[in-house]
Amino acid sequence: MLGTIEEEPAQLLTSQRVAQLNRGDKPFHVILSQQFSREGIEQLCRLSEMVRRINDDREGSQFLRGTLSHKRAMLYFIQPSTRTFLSFSAACQVLGIPYNEVRNPSTSSEVKGETEDDTVRVLSQYFDLIIMRHPVEGFAERMALMLNGMRRPLPIINGGSGKDQHPTQALLDIYTLYRCFSPRGAERGAATRGSERGAVPRASDRGIPPRFPENFFSGKTIAFVGDLKRGRTVRSLAYLLCRYPGVRMLFVAPPELMIGDDILEYVTRYGIEYEIRHDLRPVIGECNAVYMTRLQDEWDVAGESKSIDYGRYHITREMSGDFKPDLAILHPLPRRHEIDPSLDALPHAKYWEQVRNGMWMRASIIATIFGVDTAITDHYHSYYAH
Ligand code: NCD
Repeated sequence: MLGTIEEEPAQLLTSQRVAQLNRGDKPFHVILSQQFSREGIEQLCRLSEMVRRINDDREGSQFLRGTLSHKRAMLYFIQPSTRTFLSFSAACQVLGIPYNEVRNPSTSSEVKGETEDDTVRVLSQYFDLIIMRHPVEGFAERMALMLNGMRRPLPIINGGSGKDQHPTQALLDIYTLYRCFSPRGAERGAATRGSERGAVPRASDRGIPPRFPENFFSGKTIAFVGDLKRGRTVRSLAYLLCRYPGVRMLFVAPPELMIGDDILEYVTRYGIEYEIRHDLRPVIGECNAVYMTRLQDEWDVAGESKSIDYGRYHITREMSGDFKPDLAILHPLPRRHEIDPSLDALPHAKYWEQVRNGMWMRASIIATIFGVDTAITDHYHSYYAH
């Protein structure tokens, strides 16, 4: 049941867009966070737990590599990227998908005057999946619709679209939050073979639960900190968190870099409580999670962010006395100075785990698009969950 979203009439446009990107109730292209229902998010989190455990030994990793070895992927990343590129390429490797890359348009026929649309049409003939990072908002979505009209439609995954969205990052962020907020201790890793210990809550020791608790994020305060206007990861995560009634969001940013009104309207429509703040220090003690972001000054038109005092959007060692015991510090990376490196050693620092979670989440997304999620789940239950 991935991607079934009941939209208000005012959201008709979004639901029309979602309908064009999904096939039935499942995402075919992954372009917008609004494509994911709560059920869909949770299925992906459960699948990520299964994939990481199955991959933990030789037989399991061989099984996973056989699931999609007949598919080929193109990583079309024409905006700078290291971790997202490597995360997707590692995810392809987990599933046995050979991949190729275009990262520099100056080496493609675009220098001969080919349009980008034609480049994507050509790529679509060689590959079964295009994973795309592009500086222009809406480009990945437009290409998805264009490919829908071709004889051999193939899925596009958005690995970052301008200042707009980065849905796979948001899915891995929510998976990280699940792991952070899950009960730890005896029930952790009961069905685990090998070194990795799962932390997603489970109803019994027979495996991963069919549902997460109804109130999972209820009463949790999640602060988004920094350049919220141009940070696409924040926008995508805010959309996903709207699936969780009872969550509270703090948007902590300089007035010039505050989150867009479109997100605030969406959050309001879903009845989510939020506050706008301009300084992290006074609110840090209220937070269960802080989502730190860097200044996105590559989008400056005339150096306008130089005059901003970004120090108020840093998390420092001095604040640690006020941290709640379960505070989780997240960051999509790359970081500059917004997290004091001395915090890296604290249990609150989750940003390195976030990177690893991303590899499993992206493998799960790709597996789900190609319909091998059921085979992976069956494999998990026959080998690991008893
Ligand atoms: C982010 C991005 O590219 O939007 N990085 C990432 O994908 N992990 C955040 C950023 O660049 O600041």
